[in-house]
Amino acid sequence: MGRTFVGMTGASGHLYAEVLVRRLVALGREVDLAITDAGSKVLAHERGIQSGANGELSDVALADWLGPEAVGRVYVWRRDAVEAPPSSGTHMTGGTVLIPCSMGTLARVSAGFSSNLVERAADVALKEGRNLILVPRETPLSEIHLENMLRLARLGAVILPAMPGFYHQPQSVEDLVEHVVGKVLDRLGIDRDDAVRWSGLEPSPERGTERPSTGPGTERPATSRGTDPTPAQERRPS
Ligand SMILES: Cc1cc2nc3c(=O)[nH]c(=O)nc-3n(C[C@H](O)[C@H](O)[C@H](O)COP(=O)(O)O)c2cc1C
Repeated sequence: MGRTFVGMTGASGHLYAEVLVRRLVALGREVDLAITDAGSKVLAHERGIQSGANGELSDVALADWLGPEAVGRVYVWRRDAVEAPPSSGTHMTGGTVLIPCSMGTLARVSAGFSSNLVERAADVALKEGRNLILVPRETPLSEIHLENMLRLARLGAVILPAMPGFYHQPQSVEDLVEHVVGKVLDRLGIDRDDAVRWSGLEPSPERGTERPSTGPGTERPATSRGTDPTPAQERRPS
């Protein structure tokens, strides 16, 4: 299994990427990471992490952001490193994920326009017929955005919007983030012992209606976990 490529762009929602990479590392995976120019700005704004002029991160910054276990497992490439392995179809990957994915990057990928390593890695995944997962974040969506998503979906990409559900009864922002990250891990084909699946509705005696069931082995998540990547409870299959 090759490294998973994670591209971070200038869309809001860098916590999604942070939790995804933490989870991949915890699951023993290696990660190729690249950050667009706008992505660096949003990473600094939303997570307080300063990257270099080309999106590079020192080991100290990487450990500060993702924990010491990320050092040696997360390979951070300069965004202009067109010579880096993820630029080539000969570099086998464990999937390519653009998270969060801006409308700008989405448009360029849909047009086959590769101006940095993030876009090139997505372009390579498309041309090689490999798993490409895009996690767009924007609202509302224009017709251009929707057309670009449709074009990419027809080309085989997975459009997985940062659009968490509420049926799993989230108790925190982290629960919402975990819901989306769980979907990404599922589409990467990564099974987890701690992934909790929807087990149906059960009658609610108090209200005479139905409510989400925790089911056997599906305890509610802790109410607050900071950025601890422990997965939220997922109880519904779609
Ligand atoms: C704080 C902040 C939040 C942003 N959030 C979004 C967003 O959610 N979605 C989006 O498409 N663009 C968003 N943008 C705008 C993009 O960063 C901008 O279009 C940029 O050119 C995208 O470049 P990139 O695709 O190379 O990363 C945001 C910008 C900033 C500074």
